[in-house]
Amino acid sequence: MKIIAYGIRDDEKPYLDKWSEENPDVEVASTGELLDDSTVDQAKGADGVVTYQQKPYTASVLDKLGSFGIKYLSLRNVGVDNIDADAAKRNGIQVTNVPAYSPEAIAEFTVTQLMRLLRRTNTFDRKQANGDLRWAPDIADELNQMTVGVFATGRIGRAAMRIYKGFGAKVIAYDIYHNPELEKEGVYVDTPEELYAQSDVLSLHAPATKENEHMINDKTIAQMKDGVFILNPARGALVDTDALICGLDSGKIGGAALDTYENEVGIFNTDFGSFDKIPDERLKNLMKRENVLVSPHIAFYTKRAARNMVYFAMDANKSLINTGKSDKLVEL
Ligand code: COI
Repeated sequence: MKIIAYGIRDDEKPYLDKWSEENPDVEVASTGELLDDSTVDQAKGADGVVTYQQKPYTASVLDKLGSFGIKYLSLRNVGVDNIDADAAKRNGIQVTNVPAYSPEAIAEFTVTQLMRLLRRTNTFDRKQANGDLRWAPDIADELNQMTVGVFATGRIGRAAMRIYKGFGAKVIAYDIYHNPELEKEGVYVDTPEELYAQSDVLSLHAPATKENEHMINDKTIAQMKDGVFILNPARGALVDTDALICGLDSGKIGGAALDTYENEVGIFNTDFGSFDKIPDERLKNLMKRENVLVSPHIAFYTKRAARNMVYFAMDANKSLINTGKSDKLVEL
């Protein structure tokens, strides 16, 4: 049995080597390159493909995998929004993801960024770098006095809720699907509008779908509390960047922590050498603001997550090859 793993980073390699040692019945090939038209031929002869990348899995790549007889594609991450679903289906390619490599990693980072916003660490760091050790006017808000609205109560949303509650915040949530435990606690509001109207902090944890593209827009921002803090560690497509910038300019939005950005592909996880060379004016506009924390999609980036992404994806791919089944199959 042969599995080829694409896009293997240096921090993933030791985990892949260990998995390979523990699974001597599998021939493991790997490359640091992403899966695209220029690299797909390397998969010829493999039984399954393991990948992670933010760039699209295009129809032509999936058709090529199909033509090599490859039916199993295992992603090392959660999101499946960059797969051409029709092409995967017509080639009979089954796709698995890793739904829970570490929901806590993302939740912890989200709350870290919120605390940085509330305690104005960005501003104090900049002041201190200039020798200004004064307090005023940068007085903080306290999370224990606030209502946090969690949009989507999947594993990551729920992990974030546990932390917000630990801080003593009032936590409310919206989701089409209600988690039974949370339902008992009575945290759900019935509509997104109610969530917007009641939340001092909006914590977004939804996958990107056609329905929720730009759910944070001029209209929904107008429904939010004045000075709302918006946290998006989920998917850039949820937020209309122009509307966010307008909301920040007007003061309607008090601050934002963005670990995702709608045009991040090809920009995040790249070294441009200097701030000025970052090729996205709106992103730079956001990065320059003291009440905005932009981070390059690093909420997931922990040792535990990297290990689990490799192990769970390799296990899923092997299981598909051996049995045609996996508990991590996704419906496209
Ligand atoms: C995902 O798992 O879908 C993520 O967004 C994290 C990714 C950058 C590895």
